Amino acid sequence: MSIHTIVLGTGAYLPKSVLTNKDLEKCVNTSDEWIRTRTGIHQRYIANEKETNSYLATQSARRALDMAGVQPQDLDLIIVATMTPDMPMPSVACLVQNALGAKKAGAFDVQATCSGFLYALSIADKFIRDNRRMKVLVIGSEVLSRRINWEDRTTCVLFGDGAGATVLTGAREDRGILSTHLHSDGSLGDLLTIRGLGTAHPVTPEILERGWQYIEMQGREVFKCAVKALESVAWEALEANGWTGDDVDLLISHQANIRILNLLGERLGLPREKIFINIHKYGNTSAASIPIALDEANRKGILIPGLHILLVAFGGGFTWGSVAMRW
Ligand code: COA
Repeated sequence: MSIHTIVLGTGAYLPKSVLTNKDLEKCVNTSDEWIRTRTGIHQRYIANEKETNSYLATQSARRALDMAGVQPQDLDLIIVATMTPDMPMPSVACLVQNALGAKKAGAFDVQATCSGFLYALSIADKFIRDNRRMKVLVIGSEVLSRRINWEDRTTCVLFGDGAGATVLTGAREDRGILSTHLHSDGSLGDLLTIRGLGTAHPVTPEILERGWQYIEMQGREVFKCAVKALESVAWEALEANGWTGDDVDLLISHQANIRILNLLGERLGLPREKIFINIHKYGNTSAASIPIALDEANRKGILIPGLHILLVAFGGGFTWGSVAMRW
């Protein structure tokens, strides 16, 4: 039997502070009713100054390691998917490596926006299939609140902070990761972007004045692209595994908008109970949304052995991808 990547443990960590739609009504011209009906979001978690990306990531990792029964010093590799690192250097993965005391682990970050966790999972899968004894920690962690213009109602209601983690290894078993598919289209990058604070547009009073430190999104266009890409990558995964829609027991999609999730479910012919939804609690947490959902489903006992799980994500870049698993 060939080697498959299996999940030994999952974990998640959310900041302490909750920001409700009602709270947002006090800052911008919006309403709880608009946000709920147009996005499905009821509240989101917002990190305070001490809750850095690496702090959230480390806390989620500790929970995943606990569940896995794996010691930090036994980890071979740490991959963190994020677009909101503490700083350009060192990487969040290195900060986590140090905080955990994972002495023998390699560590690096992956930047593929909201698809980042699936990109990181795909990379981990390749390493593990090469050496099944490897123990790999894959984290999705974001502090998007620091990249949001809190005066822009078209974006500030959407995003939240958080982190999720998985501990992976290899096994000669008929379960685990079955397929991975990754895609991108850089020609549409301008539709969802943070233009400033990189090396092309470093911090200057002029850049800050333009608001280029913040997320900018053409929401309606992004919505259409997201539905199309998610549907196509889902069919691609089904075909690769010889599955039909009926073979999917649980769809865990990146949580960007409840209407995207509903449309995707309709197009794949999946009943509501097969679509995992937790966007109402967390908003869009970018690379963290899928590992947070996986952990939630796992701890609720939804992930029973043999379950066919389809993970799909879409994000800025554009990037999108899928991972199909048998639990
Ligand atoms: N509160 C109240 N009204 C708002 C609002 C808010 N927070 N944000 C926008 N509006 C208004 C708009 O100004 C617009 O008003 P107008 O018709 O007078 O011009 C109206 O609501 C409709 O705006 P529109 O942008 O067409 O809404 P929408 O139905 O497309 O919903 C999003 C907006 C952002 C929720 C939706 O487009 C979306 O989810 N996009 C994709 C997000 C995504 O997938 N992100 C990428 C993956 S990470």
